[in-house]
Amino acid sequence: MFGPGLNRNENQMLSASIEKVAELIRNAKYAIAFTGAGISVESGIPPFRGDGGVWNSHHPIYLEIDFFRKKPLQSWIKIKEIFYDNLGDAEPNIAHKVLAKMEERSFIESVITQNIDHLHQKAGSKYVYELHGNYKQLVCIECGSEYDISFADLNYLPPTCYVCKGILKPDIVFFNEPIPQFAKKRSFEEVSKTDLMLMIGTNAEVLPAADFPVLAKKNGAKIIEINIKKSQLTDKISDIYLEGKATEILGKIGEYLYL
Ligand code: APR
Repeated sequence: MFGPGLNRNENQMLSASIEKVAELIRNAKYAIAFTGAGISVESGIPPFRGDGGVWNSHHPIYLEIDFFRKKPLQSWIKIKEIFYDNLGDAEPNIAHKVLAKMEERSFIESVITQNIDHLHQKAGSKYVYELHGNYKQLVCIECGSEYDISFADLNYLPPTCYVCKGILKPDIVFFNEPIPQFAKKRSFEEVSKTDLMLMIGTNAEVLPAADFPVLAKKNGAKIIEINIKKSQLTDKISDIYLEGKATEILGKIGEYLYL
């Protein structure tokens, strides 16, 4: 069953669309993927919005940089609960693995992701641009020293810097923080070159990340959207909208590409 609640005829149409998308990928000159939290839902990581969304049960203020600086302990208690208690043992699902295989076989060039779970890299993708950082790194808000998460014992919060005793923060982009320069620059370069973007599992609400698919479209790329429901951009930029779970649709695309 592909799309939740699709009837037999709709599913046949969806299957034909997936076959067409596989053909478009095969013939693309520079295909890339743009992913959001939805691609990791089937790895057990909740999305931020929609059913089971993190922001339905936690206030986003704990991920706001000025609040974090003022109340690091309160923020860290929530951050540990929202992210570190969940992400540690999450494994890549078939959607991550298909994208990694597609890169290996040169069907796609890179993945631009809003996710901080590192699952694209864990699945084997090499060219991954993390617009919102990644949870496996910590950074000192005083001296900028960087640590792997394994350095910190999260039973003692907030973790502090070995060099200057400053507070350590997850190296993820908090609200009112800029996106990392490297990921931003590389993403603009990828988006300026692409002729086909797979936009997977994003509500496309958060800027500047959600500007990248819009820019790809402006540059003449075909936008293929994979989502269980329409996003903010579906009716604005998506050339083909494949309704369904990322694992099911990318699994099918992988079959058509003989991955
Ligand atoms: N398969 C495909 N799409 C799915 C699935 C699934 N199994 N489950 C959920 N989705 C879709 C939802 O329909 C929704 O469009 O994934 C999207 C999740 O939306 P968000 O939770 O808003 O995730 P995202 O768009 O990545 O959020 C962007 O917001 O809070 C910030 O920094 C955070 O990176 C995050 C950013």
